[in-house]
Amino acid sequence: MTNEQYYELIVPYQDALNLLMARLDVLNHSIYSTDVPKPIHNIQFRIKKKQSIENKLERKGMNGSFTAAKENLRDIAGIRVICYFVRDVEQLVDNLRGQRDLIVIQERNYIQDPKSNGYRSYHIILGIPVYYMERTEYYPVEVQIRTISMDFWASMEHRVCYKQERRDKQEIQAMLKQYAELLGEMEKGFERLNSEELEKSASGTGNSEKASQ
Ligand code: GTP
Ligand code: MG
Repeated sequence: MTNEQYYELIVPYQDALNLLMARLDVLNHSIYSTDVPKPIHNIQFRIKKKQSIENKLERKGMNGSFTAAKENLRDIAGIRVICYFVRDVEQLVDNLRGQRDLIVIQERNYIQDPKSNGYRSYHIILGIPVYYMERTEYYPVEVQIRTISMDFWASMEHRVCYKQERRDKQEIQAMLKQYAELLGEMEKGFERLNSEELEKSASGTGNSEKASQ
């Protein structure tokens, strides 16, 4: 793929990504009532680099052409949504699933069923309608929705071993799995604290200033 072909390839994926980002922004300020803190901590996004596209196609045994990329890759556009609580992740997923003009292409719930290494996240690949003057086309955007603690684990795991061969891999795997479980427990603890605080503010005895931060 030439540089020109790459730039031509990514234009509609960038459009689809922008459209979905706008919807996530709307959800973030409207999903709960205004006196409850927003569910999203931060959002990251990226368009896959030319080299990564070519490497991934090669791993799949395909040539690195424009057409092969368009037909075989569904993560050219990617968004990662970092939420505070598992409940926020679930609410966002339910809401996105309910947006009738979006197509759910694939869903993987690694929160309900973590990967064997301990990885947790909700993955949903959405087909986003992009309306051009002369046609409408759906483009896939891979959305990974996870909590802060899931993101912490995944970033560290990615740094120390994802797709890398290490000699001490087995030891590290046991350690990572244990950390994933510990983080899951901590997350539940914070979730309990949060629901107690929400109940208090609903009954008028909570610290309303804190709740609005
Ligand atoms: P890829 O070929 O890597 O895209 O994987 P896949 O097509 O089997 O899809 P999957 O939903 O399992 O993973 C997609 C993306 O999720 C990856 O590119 C990573 O960003 C993330 N991911 C999946 N598994 C792991 C993991 O074990 N550790 C970390 N750090 N990230 C992961
Ligand atoms: Mg991927």
